[in-house]
Amino acid sequence: MGNRLVTLCPTDFYEDGSFDETYEIDDVNSIGSGKFSTVHLCWKRNDPDSKYALKALNTGGDDVSAIARVKEEIETLRLLGNHPGIITLIDVDDSQSNAIRIVMELCEGGELYDAIQDKSHYTEPDAKATIRNLLEAVAYIHSKGIMHRDLKPENILLVSKAKYTEVKISDFGLAKISRDYPRRLPRSHSICGSDFYLAPEVIKQEEYGREIDIWAVGVITYVLLSGSLPFFHQVLHKLYRQIVERDLSFPEDAWRNVSKGALDFILRMLQVRAADRLSAEQALAHPWLCGQSSGSSFGGSFQEFSSFGRSASESVPLRQPSGASANSDLQKVLSKSITNAHPLEHANKVNNGKAVASPATALQMPSLGATPSALQMRPNLGAPAGLGTMRPGMMPGTMPGTMMAGMQVQGRAPQAMMYR
Ligand SMILES: Nc1ncnc2c1ncn2[C@@H]1O[C@H](COP(=O)(O)OP(=O)(O)O)[C@@H](O)[C@H]1O
Ligand SMILES: [Mg+2]
Repeated sequence: MGNRLVTLCPTDFYEDGSFDETYEIDDVNSIGSGKFSTVHLCWKRNDPDSKYALKALNTGGDDVSAIARVKEEIETLRLLGNHPGIITLIDVDDSQSNAIRIVMELCEGGELYDAIQDKSHYTEPDAKATIRNLLEAVAYIHSKGIMHRDLKPENILLVSKAKYTEVKISDFGLAKISRDYPRRLPRSHSICGSDFYLAPEVIKQEEYGREIDIWAVGVITYVLLSGSLPFFHQVLHKLYRQIVERDLSFPEDAWRNVSKGALDFILRMLQVRAADRLSAEQALAHPWLCGQSSGSSFGGSFQEFSSFGRSASESVPLRQPSGASANSDLQKVLSKSITNAHPLEHANKVNNGKAVASPATALQMPSLGATPSALQMRPNLGAPAGLGTMRPGMMPGTMPGTMMAGMQVQGRAPQAMMYR
């Protein structure tokens, strides 16, 4: 019984203009925006107290591929239905020529990204509760034969500012559905995702599956607990190399008071080999999330591990089979724990550089990458920016950015760049 294709005929319900007769939209103020959309508050005219979020997805008129992607996003939301950890789709309108509008339940708490920034980081109990809620939603998504492919704090929303551990996954614009699930798992070759959260296999242009979402949850857990990014470099190929080599550290200042169980959890998600990562269900059963005693399969405090790690041989292999890996992984990463933290930056999607230079090629030509001076630092955290955006099927030539020796690097400009 594969995933049924849902036929979308929203105009059956909304003749031209009738959507706007049903809903009133606060056109003046937006409550959010992404690369491809603007989100406004809206409400039903006959029930103004119930507020919703209206996402207007630009389809560029007759852009067939853009329309197909938006329909896929809607189909994904329909397949997922109601789940406490996932944004619920309420309504759809395609009566406009340039945009498809979707009405979703409203998350009044805004983005997890902003909550982390406000608090500088989450306390460990709060991070644990948040990650548990997030993973329950990820497990549900995966159980439906879907992978999200763009999990990051900007796409995880809070039910309310007060309930900042109650999160909902949103933005299924890059999600991939297996039409033949459960006979076939969702798999892909397309390079897509957001820079700091990309799994190694995506960068290496290998075929990948749901494990890429687990990698992203590992990065998000790291970000929640420390307020900084585990992998960060302004030069694209250097960021990619950090990720594929899992060049990771836990700076002591940020991690001194975090339990070893949390570190163990992160390391079991951030396994370079996809097969070595925990599944969402397995992650939910990890002692750190289940609240068992120390929450780790090994004893000792962070300090003990830290000093142990520093004296440990650098020859500890980075990649090992699951089970045996996390303990020596911990020694390895703690041996580098003096390095500085990378501040949390907005992630952005990175273009599919296949036609010019793939991420894999970029890794082989380090001298050709952008220098830090070629990439402007984003002046404030409120504006979307980043190294770039990856979308399936995108051609680099369609994007703004700086072409550097065959590798497209998108500058950190403060304005949103639309290139769906
Ligand atoms: N249901 C919602 N409730 C509140 N804010 C939302 C909702 N959906 C989206 N937003 C805000 O709008 C932003 C952009 O929406 P998103 O779905 O991520 O679009 P894009 O595909 O363009 O990235 C989000 O990061 C968030 O700040
Ligand atoms: Mg988004």
